[in-house]
Amino acid sequence: MCGIVGYIGKSEIKDILVDGLRELEYRGYDSAGIAVLQQDEIKSYKAVGKLINLEEKTKDFASEGFGLGIGHTRWATHGKPTELNAHPHLGEFSYVVHNGIIENYQELKAMLQSEGVTFLSQTDTEVIVHLFEKNYKALNDPMAAFEKTVETLEGAYAVLLITKVDPDKIYFAKHGSPMIVGNDDNGDIHFGSSDAALIGKATEVIYLDDGDYGYTSVEGINILHNRKPKALNKKALIGDKISAQKGGFRFFMEKEIYEQSEVLGDTLIGRVLDDKIQFDELDENFFDGIEEIKICACGTSYNSGLACSYIFERQAKIKATVEVASEFRYKEPLLTKNTLFVVISQSGETADTLEALKMAKAAGLKTLAICNVDNSSIVRIADRTILARAGIEKGVASTKAFATQVMAMWMLTIYVAQIRKTMTPQEIKVELNAMRHIPTTVVVTDKLHEKMKRLSKRYLHGHGFFFIGRDMFYPLALEGALKLKEISYLHAEGYPAGEMKHGPIALADSELFTVALMPKTLHFDKIKSNVEELAARDATILAISPERIELTDDYVHTYHSDHPMSEFFEMMVVTQLLALEVSIRLGNDVDMPRNLAKSVTVE
Ligand code: AGP
Repeated sequence: MCGIVGYIGKSEIKDILVDGLRELEYRGYDSAGIAVLQQDEIKSYKAVGKLINLEEKTKDFASEGFGLGIGHTRWATHGKPTELNAHPHLGEFSYVVHNGIIENYQELKAMLQSEGVTFLSQTDTEVIVHLFEKNYKALNDPMAAFEKTVETLEGAYAVLLITKVDPDKIYFAKHGSPMIVGNDDNGDIHFGSSDAALIGKATEVIYLDDGDYGYTSVEGINILHNRKPKALNKKALIGDKISAQKGGFRFFMEKEIYEQSEVLGDTLIGRVLDDKIQFDELDENFFDGIEEIKICACGTSYNSGLACSYIFERQAKIKATVEVASEFRYKEPLLTKNTLFVVISQSGETADTLEALKMAKAAGLKTLAICNVDNSSIVRIADRTILARAGIEKGVASTKAFATQVMAMWMLTIYVAQIRKTMTPQEIKVELNAMRHIPTTVVVTDKLHEKMKRLSKRYLHGHGFFFIGRDMFYPLALEGALKLKEISYLHAEGYPAGEMKHGPIALADSELFTVALMPKTLHFDKIKSNVEELAARDATILAISPERIELTDDYVHTYHSDHPMSEFFEMMVVTQLLALEVSIRLGNDVDMPRNLAKSVTVE
């Protein structure tokens, strides 16, 4: 999730921009840059890594008098974190910063290149500034050129553009990514992709809506929508920066559960086409000679890999095994060169996973990383990387990273099925259609969240939890149990439902809480009989299912039972909310639970 700032006024511009970007650091980034326009001259500075590198580069620069500027912190989704890929991006006489993903950037880039435009970066963003300048040269009117540009873009974007041909204005557009514009008591103009960047600066703000675009100058803010002027809906800006960073949620984990809908959309963009999956990151012969997939990870990332191992075998008809990295490292594994070694990691820095990757490389295996942090150690070592695009995940208990890992791996299984021709075009279309609906499936409704808040009060004691599931809902049971124990400190374990009678059912009594994942689309009757066995022994049961189960004590109704993965993602949200609300009731620090770190960089 990139960060964007903008300013028009007489104060020193660099300090305002860099300070605003610092307030957006919580969104995560791997490069940053600013561009300042004064007296028809634009100066731009960019740096890879943390903001301190940008401050070092700009330490001898300071603006004087009236001017305007834009700034950006980049979270790489297209193209490595390099200075060339950092924003702002330059045309001949304009600069642009952008948050989101331009879905039609490849066709726009090809069109512009065919007209002689040279691109410096690998990003989708750069097409915006070149398209604007193409339109300006044709229309000779910056606002008309910007309007036509915005109408051509598809996908999610929050854009700020400055140009020498209109040196008193900042042009903006918002669709699918957040953008706020405001003014201070002096009439200076401030932009931010989160109000955290504006607190202490702007006094009145406008939270732009999708489809809003326009320009600002010190004369005022001009918003258009469908080419018609739009009234300014100004609000007073109050609050503190941390709560602004949490976007009004109680914890980052809660915010990140709600963000799953948005970031899963990002994970899909440019990869789920009308009739197939494509990965820009993989050349077409990447799977040549591969007859087996070995997935290796830790914690939540292990759970996402285990879940998808079921669909690799069922749909791509390729052998898929999954290893806990800390075990794999020391078991003297037998590795064969026809195995693709897949490591999954949110941070890209987990020591055990990193060492396992090095072992696979040393054994001559082809390696692939599913990772959320570009330029991390694991990304730098793996042969190829598919970025999860979850944006920064601040909660130690992983949620949106898990969701985007599963989505990325699900896409990969279909990609392999395409190559191995193990699924018909119609079967593949069914999968693609199901994928497109997942961002909607994981939307947290008030009704569901209220239900989980109420339910949580019943699960604050007892002698432990079993989360049970079958097939790929067994890894989801593992994940639900991990979420709960991580942040509530109550004992919970995930278990294959069919295994309960081989010992654990001895624990069954009214103080044993069982959370049963009961999808309609996979072995429903089997899991139902497992639940009945437990109910007969007085276990307290919370059923998560599209069908009400009479003998259970609590019931969460699920709706998306048209595809196993729809049920998987919907039940994932339920288990995440259960863990969140139990932990909050227990008064725990949800975002920074005791004894845990966000990235385990030691073994
Ligand atoms: C999950 O909620 C935990 N934060 C932990 O299990 C985590 O998944 C594990 O440490 C692996 O981290 P990684 O994905 O960054 O490699």
